[in-house]
Amino acid sequence: MTFNATTQVLSELTADCRVVFVGADSTMGNSAQQLDKASGGIISRILALGDFTGKFGQTQLLPEAGELNGRLLLVGTGKAEELKEGQFRTLVKNLISAVKDTKIASLALSLDDIELKGRDFNWKARLLAENTVTTLYVFDQMKSKQADPSALTGIILSAPGAEAAVQQALNTGAATGEGMNVARTLGNLPGNICTPVYLAEQAQELGKDFDELTVTILDENQMAELGMNSLLSVAKGSVEAPRLITMEYNGAGSDTKPHVLVGKGVTFDSGGISLKPGEGMDEMKYDMCGAASVFGTMQVLKQLKPKINVVGVVAAVENMPAGNASKPGDVVTTMSGKTVEILNTDAEGRLVLCDALTYIDKFNPETVVDIATLTGACIIGLGHHASGLLSNDDTLAAELLSAGLDANDKAWQMPLWAEYQQQLDSNFADIANIGGRPAGTITAACFLSRFTEDYRWAHLDIAGTAWHSGKEKGATGRPVPLLTQYVLSKVDINA
Ligand code: BES
Ligand code: MN
Ligand code: ZN
Repeated sequence: MTFNATTQVLSELTADCRVVFVGADSTMGNSAQQLDKASGGIISRILALGDFTGKFGQTQLLPEAGELNGRLLLVGTGKAEELKEGQFRTLVKNLISAVKDTKIASLALSLDDIELKGRDFNWKARLLAENTVTTLYVFDQMKSKQADPSALTGIILSAPGAEAAVQQALNTGAATGEGMNVARTLGNLPGNICTPVYLAEQAQELGKDFDELTVTILDENQMAELGMNSLLSVAKGSVEAPRLITMEYNGAGSDTKPHVLVGKGVTFDSGGISLKPGEGMDEMKYDMCGAASVFGTMQVLKQLKPKINVVGVVAAVENMPAGNASKPGDVVTTMSGKTVEILNTDAEGRLVLCDALTYIDKFNPETVVDIATLTGACIIGLGHHASGLLSNDDTLAAELLSAGLDANDKAWQMPLWAEYQQQLDSNFADIANIGGRPAGTITAACFLSRFTEDYRWAHLDIAGTAWHSGKEKGATGRPVPLLTQYVLSKVDINA
C-alpha cells in the first residue's frame, strides 16, 4: 500500500475512484460540492433520489463519476456533532471495505469535510493510513487456499498547502498499521507453529536488512547460567524450549539511554498443573500478544527509522502440565535473588516477566514498559476497551495514557499502592505468586514491582484488548499504536 499527500484538489487528480463524504440529511461540504460541480452534478442528482442520506456508516459505490473519469464512492458521515473520534476508525473501515473486493487500485480523497473536535488534519491522515492497512489485513495462511490480494494499492490524499506534514502523518499511520498486522499474525498463529523458537526465528528475520537492529537469543542453558530459575520453572513442563529474545534498535547513537519494552511471550498457556478449564482454552495461544506487540513496534521502527534507542525483549515460553512441571507449593529463586512460592502455576506470566525485568537492568534503561496478557481480572475491571496501566512513576504513566489517547488505543491507570503488597506475603518464600481474588490485576503488578525498583517502569495489562473472541476471533494488534506513539514522542526533534 502506498499513501501520497498531494497539492491537487480531488477533481484534478487521477484515480480509479474518488471518495465523497456526505453528512446527515444529504449535506455536502466544500470538497463534495467542488466534486459535484466538476462531475456535472452527478452527486446532487443521486442525493436527490433519497436512497443515500448520509447516515453514518452508509456507503454507495457509483460506477461512474459523470464528467470526471473513474468512479465515486459516497460515504455517510452522519450528524457532524455526533461524529466522535472513535467512529472515525469505523468510517475508514467501511470506506475501505466498500472497495477492497473491486478492481479499484487507487482511491483519492480529501478529509476536509470531516470535522473532529480537537483533532487536526494530520491526526485524521495518520488514522486513515493505519486503518486502511489494518482493514486490508487477512489471515488465511493456515487455510489450504488463500484469497487473492485486494486490488487496492494506493491512496491519494488531497492536502493543499500541508503536504509535507500530512505525508509524514500518513507514513507514521501506515507503519503503525503494518506493525499491528505483524502483531496480529504472530497472535493468530497457532501454538504448534508459533513456539518460543519460532518467535526467536522471527526476531532474526526482522533483523535482516535492518542494520540498526541487533538481535540476541538466549537458550535455556544461557538463562540457567544467569539464574533465571523463575522463567525456567514455567518452561520446564513443556517440550518446547524457551528463548529470551533481545532486539536492540539503535537510532540515536550509543550515548542515549534506551526505552525498553518487555513482552510476555507465553506461546500457549494451559495453566500448567493448575490446569485451566477446557472451554475457550484455544484462546490461550494469544498469551504471547505482549511479545507480539513488541515485534510490531520493532517493525514500525524498521519502517520509520526514528532517532531513538529502543530495546525490545521477549520472554518466550510454553506453560504445560507434565510429570516434570512446576507444582503448587514449589519455591524458586529468581535472577534477582528473591525467592517465590508458586501457589498457582497458572500465574505464570509474572514468573516469566520477573526474570526478564531483572535481566534488562543491564541496558541502563531510560524507561521500561512491560506488556502482558497478565490477568483475567483486567477484563473484569476494564472490559475490552482499555488496557490496564500500572506504574511506579506518575510522569511515565501520564505519558503512556496520553499516547494511548492520541493513538486511539486507550489505557486506564490503576493504583499500585503499598497496601496491596501484603496480599503477596508467603509463609515459605519472599513472595507468593498470587494475591487472592481481590484486585487481581493490581496484585499481579505488585509482584512485578518487586523486580523493577531500580528504574522508571510501567506495566500494561492487555488481557482485554489484545484479541477479540467469538465470531470475530482474532488478534487486534493492540497496543502497537500506543507503544508507537509513546516511543515516537521520545524523538528529540532538535537532534
Ligand atoms: N494468561 C492468563 C491471563 C488471561 C486469562 C488473559 C484469560 C486473558 C484471558 C494468565 O496467565 C492467568 O492465567 N492468570 C490467572 C492468574 C490467577 C491464577 C492469579 C487469571 O487471571 O486467572
Ligand atoms: Mn496463566
Ligand atoms: Zn498466561
